[in-house]
Amino acid sequence: MKPNFSLLSKLLILQYLSALCLSQDFDFFYFVQQWPGAYCDTRQSCCYPKTGKPVADFGIHGLWPNYNDGSWPSNCDPDSVFDKSQISELMSSMNEKWPSLSCPSSNGFRFWSHEWEKHGTCAESELDQREYFETALKLKEKINLLQILKDADIEPDDGFYSLENISDAIKKGTGFTPGIECNKDSAHNSQLYQVYLCVDTSGSNLIECPILPSSRCGSNIQFPKF
Ligand SMILES: *[C@@H]1O[C@H](CO)[C@@H](O)[C@H](O)[C@H]1NC(C)=O
Repeated sequence: MKPNFSLLSKLLILQYLSALCLSQDFDFFYFVQQWPGAYCDTRQSCCYPKTGKPVADFGIHGLWPNYNDGSWPSNCDPDSVFDKSQISELMSSMNEKWPSLSCPSSNGFRFWSHEWEKHGTCAESELDQREYFETALKLKEKINLLQILKDADIEPDDGFYSLENISDAIKKGTGFTPGIECNKDSAHNSQLYQVYLCVDTSGSNLIECPILPSSRCGSNIQFPKF
């Protein structure tokens, strides 16, 4: 019997297309932590979550799939909506380590659902929704930025520190060069806002960043109180 090449090639093309659609490839994650003191003392200000003022610690901003060239995928799967029942067991850790400071005051679900839908859905080939949030919480536990900085006498005391000293301290404490992002307080001082560390696509291992985000920092930056 003559093999049906046309059917075979159609099947191959279909298989290829579905593989393209299902694998949301990315090269690494940025794990981004933010200092609440710098979020809150800008002109725009902040609102504490309904669970109350967060502890004075870095909070998670997000775990963002990224490409080596600095670009990133976003909103990869409109069908995968945030489902809070999948993280019900993580709720107390989420409130503590991933608080929302945006206004109006909220219980965090808006923030987490934004993070899942914009960034998390682009890592679904590696982590499902529960694993995604759990992975970020584990990274936060593993990387105690505030303690690392305190060990280098860098404290949130409204003092000014050199960007180099902050970066060196984090490199010493984690083994990897961080990306440091600043913003400006209402008096226009450049201040420590977010710290980026890079993580492999499994979400478990820190790596050297293939590319660092632009820092927008002066050479001396304030570490504001919270
Ligand atoms: C940076 O670190 C050095 C060495 O510990 C210290 O002498 C210096 O005062 C620091 N600079 C700032 C601006 O924090």
